[in-house]
Amino acid sequence: MDIEAQKRQAAARALDWVQPGMRVGLGTGSTARHLVDLLGEKVRAGFDVVGVPTSEATRIQAEQCGIRLATLDEMPELDVTIDGADEVGPDLSLIKGGGGALLREKIVASASAKMIVIADESKWVAVLGQFPLPIEVVPFGLRVTQRQIVSAIGPGHNSSMITLRKTRDGHPFVTDGGHFILDAALGRIPDPQALAGRLAAIPGVVEHGLFIGMASAVVLAGAGGVRVVERP
Ligand code: A5P
Repeated sequence: MDIEAQKRQAAARALDWVQPGMRVGLGTGSTARHLVDLLGEKVRAGFDVVGVPTSEATRIQAEQCGIRLATLDEMPELDVTIDGADEVGPDLSLIKGGGGALLREKIVASASAKMIVIADESKWVAVLGQFPLPIEVVPFGLRVTQRQIVSAIGPGHNSSMITLRKTRDGHPFVTDGGHFILDAALGRIPDPQALAGRLAAIPGVVEHGLFIGMASAVVLAGAGGVRVVERP
């Protein structure tokens, strides 16, 4: 089974957490696209939910699928958010933000009673960090923020490990919130909680892609089928 089929399987299984009348946070990325598509099919068949999108891209897709939408201000408490991830560790800590939507994703997940992560098995890792950690920063004082991030990461790292994300035409990638993203190629993050704290203390950092203690369950799809890992 190819990766897209696996992502779709994970998305389909995650719909088990969605009951009629629920308020649902809709994630961003290629796996979440399957979720929105499948939820749209159910909605068109008469299933009633309200979605809160985590990005403009998801908002546009969900609208096209006919899913009734609300903003987070209109609906500040959600029943469940279903979203993808770039890496998932054994304690269900995550790296997110490969698609650049980490800020809204984290805000929406934090407003949800449950966060269900959907992914193919390749995202499951023993230690986070192989995927470059996305860090959303304000454009003002970018070099200062970059230096402070290097010191927060700790000895053995330098600024060459941190890259300003760019679009295909070479311009800085700008998030839905008008910020830039620095991708930190760390290789290994032995203590995600401690790093999260140090990054959050930097004034120019808006948010980082470490999601710790947020996922309630992860639905992983692989060649052998789908498995669900729940947080105890
Ligand atoms: C979007 O900003 C990300 O957090 C995505 O959820 C994450 O990158 C997973 O994306 P894919 O499902 O495309 O791998």
